[in-house]
Amino acid sequence: MKSRRVADLLQSTETGIDVFLKGWVRTRRGNKQIAFIAINDGSIIHSIQVVAEIEKFGDELMKSITTGACIAVKGKLVASQGQGQSVEIQAGSIEVLGGADETYPLQKKGHSLEFLREIAHLRPRTNTFGAVLRMRHHMTFAIHKYFNDRGFFNLHSPIITGSDAEGAGEMFQVTTLDFDKLPRNPDGTINYKEDFFGKATNLTVSGQLEGELGAMALGLVYTFGPTFRAENSNTPRHLAEFWMIEPEMAFYNLKDNMDLAEDFLKFLISYALEHCKDDLEFLTNLYDKELLNRLQSVVSQDFKRLTYTEAVEVLSSSNKKFEFPVSWGTDLQKEHENYLVDHFKRPVILSDYPKEIKSFYMKQNEDGKTVRAMDILFPWIGEIIGGSQREENFEKLQARIKEMKIHEEELWWYLETRKYGTCEHSGFGLGFERLMLFVTGMTNIRDVIPFPRTPKNAEF
Ligand code: 4AD
Ligand code: MG
Repeated sequence: MKSRRVADLLQSTETGIDVFLKGWVRTRRGNKQIAFIAINDGSIIHSIQVVAEIEKFGDELMKSITTGACIAVKGKLVASQGQGQSVEIQAGSIEVLGGADETYPLQKKGHSLEFLREIAHLRPRTNTFGAVLRMRHHMTFAIHKYFNDRGFFNLHSPIITGSDAEGAGEMFQVTTLDFDKLPRNPDGTINYKEDFFGKATNLTVSGQLEGELGAMALGLVYTFGPTFRAENSNTPRHLAEFWMIEPEMAFYNLKDNMDLAEDFLKFLISYALEHCKDDLEFLTNLYDKELLNRLQSVVSQDFKRLTYTEAVEVLSSSNKKFEFPVSWGTDLQKEHENYLVDHFKRPVILSDYPKEIKSFYMKQNEDGKTVRAMDILFPWIGEIIGGSQREENFEKLQARIKEMKIHEEELWWYLETRKYGTCEHSGFGLGFERLMLFVTGMTNIRDVIPFPRTPKNAEF
């Protein structure tokens, strides 16, 4: 007999049939005669109840059916007498595939999220992480579906690169050089010609620059891959390794870019509401009673759009005492972003930031002071998307690269897109884990990725 999954069995309208099931024991209760064993196999948040008569199986076997053990059960699927489930299994035979003794750390329910981070190798077996990981999968699928349905092509950008796409210098170096015997140039600097790639390389901070090469050929592309930032930010919203979705569109201006980004986010949240009902209900009940309402409200309203300059006016004319004072030209802090989202009571798209606080590749406005950047700010999360219209003019882009003292020789290939068949184009980056924070209602980014990488933390 082929084994079936819990999700499938719980939906079954057919009872009185023989079934076969494999999974992990979540809880076991009962008395001397009968055991009620809750089995979960990860296919759905719910467990299925197996009813076993102790006399039938003997003490030896029954003793090894403990929390965390992996078991295989053959039995009859019957309508349940108990509350909380429509069907249960009357066990005919039970085999313990893998035992778990009393040292299994997930004995009881209700461990703190901090404790679960210390046992990240086992936390996927909890209801919370099961829900989060299933939702990560559904969101991944929704992202590919959104773009595929709209004629975008998935472009695989490299993970090892020789350039700094954001020009922020927060990169992890990739090398095979021996640190004890570093090859040196006559002037004492390291001779990277001896390194694996014959040059200095690092893990990518963004797939955008390669995305732009793709857009100049395929028109509409998106990347979806891991990105790495060696910024020492120990916050609930920063990871050193995170996943980013970066669409890049030929012939799109900043307005087109904002329209796409807003539609994309609304699609993803609607998708979660429709396809992750059980998991969302669980997370809402356990962690955040407002979660479903918040998701609904983002889908049903237009995002508020204003320029950076207008936002600074709103912030300056507010009575709120900010820790960091606001003035035109400074980067907005978390507290300012929060204020704006609260003030307008919906997500906010800010555009046209001062060029000094944004990356070299953004299109310069006529005023000489601002660039066609846009950030989307979400309740609690702050920045969820960052994007821009790109500078497509060769001379202007080159001048900006020089002005910002970026190594032009590393970017010769990027500059050539502006030399051969350049055109208006735009794109943005969505931080996948920031999206996951929003849709799951979790409050620490370490809890929406299976194995988080943060400063001083790469255990699992
Ligand atoms: O604003 P960022 O730095 O933009 C870019 O990298 C552009 N190349 C995107 C583009 O235009 N194609 O990053 C984009 C998003 C942020 O809005 C945020 O959601 C997320 O990536 N992000 C992080 N997420 C988790 N941990 C970090 N350390 C993050 N840094 C950025
Ligand atoms: Mg940004």
